[in-house]
Amino acid sequence: MVGSNSMSSLPGKMRRLSRNGRLFVMYDAQVYALHGKDVDRVLRGVGRVSSFVIPPGERSKSRTQLSRLQDFLLSERVTREDVVVAVGGGVISDLVGYAAATTLRGIDWVVIPTTLLSMVDAAIGGKTGINHGLGKNLIGTFWQPRLVWCDTRFLMTLPDRELISGLGEVLKYAGLIGGKITEKLEDFLCGGCNLEDGAVAKLVESCIRYKAGVVELDELDTGKRMVLNFGHTFGHAVETGAGHGRLRHGEALMVGLKAAVDLSQARFPGATGALTHYARLVESFQEMVPRRKLSLDRLRDALFLDKKRGKSGPNFILLQKPGKPIITTNVKLRDVKTSLRIALKRFELTGNLDG
Ligand code: GLY
Repeated sequence: MVGSNSMSSLPGKMRRLSRNGRLFVMYDAQVYALHGKDVDRVLRGVGRVSSFVIPPGERSKSRTQLSRLQDFLLSERVTREDVVVAVGGGVISDLVGYAAATTLRGIDWVVIPTTLLSMVDAAIGGKTGINHGLGKNLIGTFWQPRLVWCDTRFLMTLPDRELISGLGEVLKYAGLIGGKITEKLEDFLCGGCNLEDGAVAKLVESCIRYKAGVVELDELDTGKRMVLNFGHTFGHAVETGAGHGRLRHGEALMVGLKAAVDLSQARFPGATGALTHYARLVESFQEMVPRRKLSLDRLRDALFLDKKRGKSGPNFILLQKPGKPIITTNVKLRDVKTSLRIALKRFELTGNLDG
């Protein structure tokens, strides 16, 4: 469900889900400070609420925080009749969803995403998990939430950079979906990303509808769901190249999308004007990414070490045109490097891509 100022309608829906009215509500600490009292009050309209606060940031996707959560649930004598509620961004839905999936062999859970990135991507599709010293999201499972409740009012208190980072994912969906969403996103950008006119709720709805359709076809991410990684092969490498935490996920994704669109144009030279139009939109968004120093050596390792994992190299998601993604490993190394160099022209670069 997507809406603005829609929290008051949540209890009615939750009452139908909750068998005994007992809720365990897990918050990101920053979200709790801003909205905890209001959300708790709304949820008390469903039944008994026990709240728990998790430190913000990626570091919370850890075994330590998972244990804290599970200790809390078990010491409060959680049952499979109860409902776990995750309130926050992608870190919270990943961690809390995993705790719900693995405690008592699975407890129903609901997500109330509070960031744009989690509304359009992280909270949708049931990916849950934590990080390991050897990499992100290496421990986890699929556990679908019973309900995702998006109230775009939460976006009003998001720091600008967090909102822009979320727009990186919306921009990805615009490429995957094609058609009108590109114009709507362009209007949103030209209007100064005004959160008050309801346009953002429509964008969020389009992204969720698309993602839900893809997840329905390939819940376990063995085929078609990979299209959701459009821009991510490059984006993750850019994130690593900039150094841990220096660029937000959605910011690195915008740079990754720029490289992916450029590579698409090299692969499909006769592509339609719609692809050129989308490429221009990506370029405008990319201007919002903060300039950072970036190590091409680290970026290259992140991109090409992936090669060792699959038989034929990393997967690239390319667009034949907006709305028509393909999954391929069949790209020329020279074109990959050229696309990256173009996408990275605003950055201060060290090292090289050829090493
Ligand atoms: N974020 C990509 C996926 O959920 O598959």
